[in-house]
Amino acid sequence: MDDLRKPILPGKGASDYERYLRTDELLSLQKRPEEFLHKDEMTFQVVHQSSELLLKGAAWELDRARGQIAEGGFGNAARLLRRANQMLDYPIGLLHVLETITPYDYHIIRAGLGHGSGLDSPGFLALLHIGPRLGEAFYAQLHQANLSVDDLYRRHDEFFGLHDVAERLLDFDERVHLFRFHHLKLAQRIIGGGVVGTMGTPVEVLHQRMEHLFYKELWDVRNQITAKANAAMQKAGTGSKY
Ligand code: HEM
Repeated sequence: MDDLRKPILPGKGASDYERYLRTDELLSLQKRPEEFLHKDEMTFQVVHQSSELLLKGAAWELDRARGQIAEGGFGNAARLLRRANQMLDYPIGLLHVLETITPYDYHIIRAGLGHGSGLDSPGFLALLHIGPRLGEAFYAQLHQANLSVDDLYRRHDEFFGLHDVAERLLDFDERVHLFRFHHLKLAQRIIGGGVVGTMGTPVEVLHQRMEHLFYKELWDVRNQITAKANAAMQKAGTGSKY
């Protein structure tokens, strides 16, 4: 009988777990403790590296979802969008871990960052790339069904699959927004809101970037729905100011 403890996969590592996940390489990607400018640098690197991995995973699933939308596979697209959105919750949560670094300690780490800046984050840039392409695939389907966004929301039972995709796209948009919001708060509390970053971008610009939305029409349709409901209630002599 085979010894189940013996690795059978190719590659480095004492076990198949380590070989499959390439943990030797993965765990050697952080600075060695003797290279750290400050002991908090381990947390700083691990948070950034984990975020990059999760952003990569999310962008991959978002692109698969885009393919499914284009093929009319709305159920599968919604499932993949849900998965990507769940992955994005972690980089958002990890930002809070870095709030435990004190401003003085951060400047010791920052001295070793060169011109390194999140503006060059491959994972975040991948999200910015896929966002509009997902939107194009969605609007093409809407167009093909001869529906406006308002029609889709009014007839949500009839077009359940496409409506579900729309809501999951909204979740994605919200997560990018939430990432930017919590990241702005992190930058404000660590380096301050009135300074420039390692790439020369004023922190204030992070504030402006928060205004950006991928799917503005999906947000705006709620205003139209409420305005219509208000008008109908006024006509009927009932209503609420909320
Ligand atoms: C101590 C923690 C952090 C500080 C003080 C900080 C600060 C900043 C600043 C000042 C900028 C503006 C660009 C520039 O550098 O000049 C920026 C951009 C950015 N940072 Fe961070 N950051 C921190 C952590 C993170 C983490 C953990 C991530 C996760 C990947 C991240 C991702 C980004 C992204 C994606 C941008 C571009 C933002 C956008 O396009 O809206 N940052 N950061």
